[in-house]
Amino acid sequence: MHEFRYKNNRLFCENTELEALARKFGTPLYVYSYHTLVDHFLKLRNAFRAIDPLICYSVKANSNLAVLRALVRQGSGLDIVSGGELFRALKAGCPAKKIVYASVGKTSREIEEAIRAGILFFNVESLAELENIDRIARRLNKKARVAIRINPDVEPKTHKYITTGKLTNKFGIDFTSARQILLLRNALTHTRITGLHIHIGSQITESVPYAAAIKKMIGFIETLKKAGIRLEYLNIGGGLGIVYDRETPQTAKKFASQVLPLLRKTGLKIIMEPGRFIAGNSGILVTRVLYIKNTPRKKFVIVDAGMNDLIRPALYEAFHNIVPLRQVGQGMRGKSRLVDIVGPICESGDFLAKERMMPELKEGDYLAVMGAGAYGFSMSSNYNSRLRAAEVLVSGNKNFVIRARDSRNDLVRNERMPGFLR
Ligand code: LLP
Repeated sequence: MHEFRYKNNRLFCENTELEALARKFGTPLYVYSYHTLVDHFLKLRNAFRAIDPLICYSVKANSNLAVLRALVRQGSGLDIVSGGELFRALKAGCPAKKIVYASVGKTSREIEEAIRAGILFFNVESLAELENIDRIARRLNKKARVAIRINPDVEPKTHKYITTGKLTNKFGIDFTSARQILLLRNALTHTRITGLHIHIGSQITESVPYAAAIKKMIGFIETLKKAGIRLEYLNIGGGLGIVYDRETPQTAKKFASQVLPLLRKTGLKIIMEPGRFIAGNSGILVTRVLYIKNTPRKKFVIVDAGMNDLIRPALYEAFHNIVPLRQVGQGMRGKSRLVDIVGPICESGDFLAKERMMPELKEGDYLAVMGAGAYGFSMSSNYNSRLRAAEVLVSGNKNFVIRARDSRNDLVRNERMPGFLR
């Protein structure tokens, strides 16, 4: 469920009419529903109440400070993947003890900052990284906590770019190597291995792959127990799929009913790292029709949002539902047309939708690209020297700019003219 609905043929976010926001702040514009965001977090927490997991929202999905603060206020921890995200997490007020840090390429500086901050643990992705963490902790005279990220080699049945738990992916450590590392753990004097981590992919719509991965982990945890190795945490990652089109993803409740019995068997404290499940359908991208272009082969609707604003269609051929902010009734304007909705960027890959049935559109119409709350703004760029969009958070009939639109000066702020060209 989300809070984007038509009332009298006008699309609203909560009790705020979206066209009014588009006129006030301009387009392209990201709009998030505060209550949807919090509601999704609470749905997951309630579904798993019986085991009281630590839910660490995955910052990369939508890293705006206000979004992070809203979730942290509800008790969420954060899953980070860089020093930049650590900076955001702390700035948003997240207690360090609720921060977990994954990434195959943590730099020494990033590791040092995270140890100093006192995060809950690193999700370690290789032996080389583990040794580096141990070295840095020794230099700082601290003990670092880590979880070993296991690559369980399961098929999550999602897009190949967002599959992460197969042995051909760069993520995690295979069971055999992980076992060896754990057996030799005493050689690491400044590191404590407190848990195991998996994250098998993203936009996973059924519980079967999770159950398969968790079962493998249960077996592994048993063999470790026999070898006298006791752990505290099992981090099952994120990846819960959402509805973009006609998917029928598992609900939080259904997911819980499938995996809870398995998670109980581990006897460990459970951590989850959902990103998309919480943020995805909490946000939309509002864009305006610039031109209608008819060619011998196609009808193009050219809008003012491009792949720099929302790269998912270009990068993954992802489907996002696109709807007009004003719903037209039956009659002439209600007629549907097959169109390509494209952005202004100089690339043929710059599309938001291809071969899409849309009501008749005209210049100046506003459209909402649905399901853009996760991996929307956070993956946006200044390509073509376009200004990154503004972000607005709506709560009831109130709206708040939580990121101002880039200015022209933002584009060149860090650029320097070498002396010989002055
Ligand atoms: N934990 C780890 C270690 C991850 O790598 C990710 C996402 C998550 C949690 C959160 O996954 P989620 O619950 O959001 O599926 N840009 C792509 C998605 C990339 C996901 C990367 N890792 C997209 O737009 O579909």
